[in-house]
Amino acid sequence: MADYIIQTKNLSKSFVDVLALDNMTLVVKPGVFGLVGPNGAGKTTLIRILLGLAKPTSGEASVLGQDVVHNSYEIRERIGVLHERATFPKAMKVRAYLDRVCRMYEDRRTSEELLEMVGLAYAGERPIGKLSAGMHQRLGLAQAFAGNPELVILDEPTVNLDVKGRRETIDLVVEMYRSTGVSFFISSHILSELERACDSIAFMKNGRVLDSGSIADILSRYAQGVWRVRTSMPEAFASRAGAIKGVRSARVTGSTLVTVTAEREWTEDLQDHLRNLSMTENLGVHAIEPSMSLEDAYEVVMDNE
Ligand SMILES: Nc1ncnc2c1ncn2[C@@H]1O[C@H](COP(=O)(O)OP(=O)(O)O)[C@@H](O)[C@H]1O
Ligand SMILES: [Mg+2]
Repeated sequence: MADYIIQTKNLSKSFVDVLALDNMTLVVKPGVFGLVGPNGAGKTTLIRILLGLAKPTSGEASVLGQDVVHNSYEIRERIGVLHERATFPKAMKVRAYLDRVCRMYEDRRTSEELLEMVGLAYAGERPIGKLSAGMHQRLGLAQAFAGNPELVILDEPTVNLDVKGRRETIDLVVEMYRSTGVSFFISSHILSELERACDSIAFMKNGRVLDSGSIADILSRYAQGVWRVRTSMPEAFASRAGAIKGVRSARVTGSTLVTVTAEREWTEDLQDHLRNLSMTENLGVHAIEPSMSLEDAYEVVMDNE
C-alpha cells in the first residue's frame, strides 16, 4: 500500500475573485483523517479537486497514488464519496436506491450488506424522503461503500444534524473503519467530532494548511503552554494575567474559567507566574490546571494567522 493515500503539492485554485486554495501542501496516511477549518477555508474545493470535479489552477495532487487531473476516472472507481448536503431521490425506497447505486460498480457490495453495515436493515422499504436526517446520512455512508472503496471521502457529514445525529454518524464512521479497515477523509468545521473519530488531522484556513499531523503530535506542539484557571473573578484575573510578560492571551472562557496561553518561549514559566499572581492578589483563584484539549491547540493555530 502506498505510504500516502492523498498528497498535494503547492496546490492552488483561484476563482474570479477568490484564492480558494493557496499553495497547499498536505500528505494523508491511511487511517481516519480529519480536515478541519471554518466555512470558506477551502475544504470543499480541495475535495472537488481530489475527485476530479474541479481543476487545479496550479500545483499537483494525487489520490491513492494516481494523479487527479489525468486519472480522475480511476480514482473515482476506487473511492466512495458523501458530498456536502447530499440529497438522494426522495420518492425512491432505500433498498431500491442502493440496488441502483450498486449496479454502477463492477466490484460491488449488495444492498443487504450495506443496509446491515449502517444499521438501516429495518428501513429498506421506506421512501428516502421519509428518513430522519440521521438516517439520511447513514444512507449516504451506505452508498459511499457500494463500490468496495479503498478510501471514503465525507464532506461535512454532520452539517445538518442535531447533536444526537452528529454523534451517531461519527460513531458509525468509527465502527465502519474498525470493521472494514477502509480509510476515511472527513472534512468538518466542528473540531470536537473530528477529534473523536480521527487519528490525524489538518487545520485549514484561507486555503492553506496551518498544521497537520497525528492528534498526539499536534497536542504536544501547541497545548503545552495553555492553562485553565478556575476563579470566581474571571474578568479581573484575565485582565491581570494578560499583562504578564510572556502571556499571549488570557481569555474568559467560562463563568468561572480563564484560559491563558503563553508565548512559545515562555511556556515553561507560565504556571509559576500564574501561581504568583493568584497568591499575591486576591483574584478568587481556586485551581490552575494544564489544558490539553485539541480545541486549545486549534485556537492557538488559528490565532497565529
Ligand atoms: N465555484 C466557485 N466560484 C467562486 N468562488 C468559489 C467557488 N467555490 C468556492 N468558492 C470560494 O472559495 C472559498 C472556499 O470555499 P469552499 O471550498 O466551499 O470552503 P469550505 O468547504 O471550507 O467551506 C470561499 O471563499 C468560496 O466562496
Ligand atoms: Mg464546504
